[in-house]
Amino acid sequence: MNLLTFGAVTGTALGALYPVVKYFIPPSSGGGSGGVTAKDALGKDILVSDFIASHAPGDHVLSQGLKGDPTYLVIKEDKALADFGINAVCTHLGCVVPWNAAENKFKCPCHGSQYDSNGKVVRGPAPLSLALAHAAVVDNKVSFTPWTETDFRTGEDPWWS
Ligand code: FES
Repeated sequence: MNLLTFGAVTGTALGALYPVVKYFIPPSSGGGSGGVTAKDALGKDILVSDFIASHAPGDHVLSQGLKGDPTYLVIKEDKALADFGINAVCTHLGCVVPWNAAENKFKCPCHGSQYDSNGKVVRGPAPLSLALAHAAVVDNKVSFTPWTETDFRTGEDPWWS
């Protein structure tokens, strides 16, 4: 009887704990390097060869990045993918900032903040530059990993890590 009670209590407790434990374990999205694979608007993995072929140098294209955040992939002038992604969440109040190709900058529609082509803030009220993530090509897919090093745009520690 004691064994039955122990089993019932333990099973119930483990069942209740599972969602709590799972909540704290980040989801794995593949990528082969411990990173998160960039996805398109339909939730499909972005294939780098197709992506490069269908975009022009200088393009900034939204993808789904770390923690599901909208993150820009950048096509460099040599048509290679930049090794960093730019988090599109405005550092003022969190609007998603669109890329303005004509002006070669990001312009937030909510309160007018502006960021240069690398996401460095150039006009407030946003107090900080857009966050960065590493973007590496692994097996023809983009693998995002957290950016914890110095912010190359400001020479400062990253505010987002
Ligand atoms: Fe972008 Fe306010 S949320 S400027």
